[in-house]
Amino acid sequence: MEELGESARIVCVSGGTSGIGAGLVEAFLDAGDRVYTFGRDPARLAALRSRWADAVDEDALVALEGDVTDDGFRRRLVERLAADVGRLDILVNNAGVIRDSGTLEESLEHWRETIEINLIAPFALTQSCVGLLGRAAAPVVINLSSACAQHPFVTCTSTSYSVSKAGLDMLTRRLALALGPRGIRVNGVAPGVVDTAMWGGATDLMQEISARRHVLRQEVVTPADVADAVMFLVSSRARLVTGAILNVDAGYTLG
Ligand SMILES: NC(=O)c1ccc[n+]([C@@H]2O[C@H](COP(=O)([O-])OP(=O)(O)OC[C@H]3O[C@@H](n4cnc5c(N)ncnc54)[C@H](OP(=O)(O)O)[C@@H]3O)[C@@H](O)[C@H]2O)c1
Repeated sequence: MEELGESARIVCVSGGTSGIGAGLVEAFLDAGDRVYTFGRDPARLAALRSRWADAVDEDALVALEGDVTDDGFRRRLVERLAADVGRLDILVNNAGVIRDSGTLEESLEHWRETIEINLIAPFALTQSCVGLLGRAAAPVVINLSSACAQHPFVTCTSTSYSVSKAGLDMLTRRLALALGPRGIRVNGVAPGVVDTAMWGGATDLMQEISARRHVLRQEVVTPADVADAVMFLVSSRARLVTGAILNVDAGYTLG
């Protein structure tokens, strides 16, 4: 069991119980950081806690049950961070959903849910955390975007999802502009196809799209590939990088 060092960064990752978020939790814990994460599903939270129970100091990982769209939960999360550690070095807005394929077929209920979780909640969580971020030495916000934000590729099957991520990219730039004077950097990471639960087991479709779009290597991206990009963006090596969207897509967005 590793002790938390003085240089441990305080990190909050939304949706760290699955896929890319779980990969980010792993990367930050491996780096010796202290991670707060949350999700809605108690079974996923229990699995995350037990995966790390013997591997890290008990203070290193705080996994809470909560919905990022819930104002009360976000307030409690910020209060908890303030009471425990009094600052936030890194916020990763990772939680996201894709509900349906198609354009005119999708219900307004699913549209609203997608925009609420993928676009409004990252803004709301960042807004809630600005005070804590302002107390860190080199604060950074990372938004998990998608290749689907950048062009209406036919291989991006959900219109509400693509629109939510296109909005998120503009939010990244607007927040970078607004928070730069406070010393807070804000960047996005845009993966191509990543093998996670988000695909709902549609392995053939995932591999077919990778083969068509991932021109560099026709394989799916891993959560560890995404985590590598995030670890660069939150590091001092990227100290003057803000308002950027870093593609981790093996060339998906090239054409
Ligand atoms: N997989 C891909 O191909 C891909 C490609 C590009 C970008 N991305 C983006 O990467 C991010 C992570 O996706 P993933 O593939 O890792 O998906 P995933 O495996 O389905 O994980 C999504 C995570 O978000 C959490 N979450 C969803 N809605 C939430 C809410 N309302 N409140 C709190 N937590 C919530 C989920 O937990 P609960 O459901 O338990 O709440 C889960 O932990 C998303 O923003 C996604 O759009 C994914």
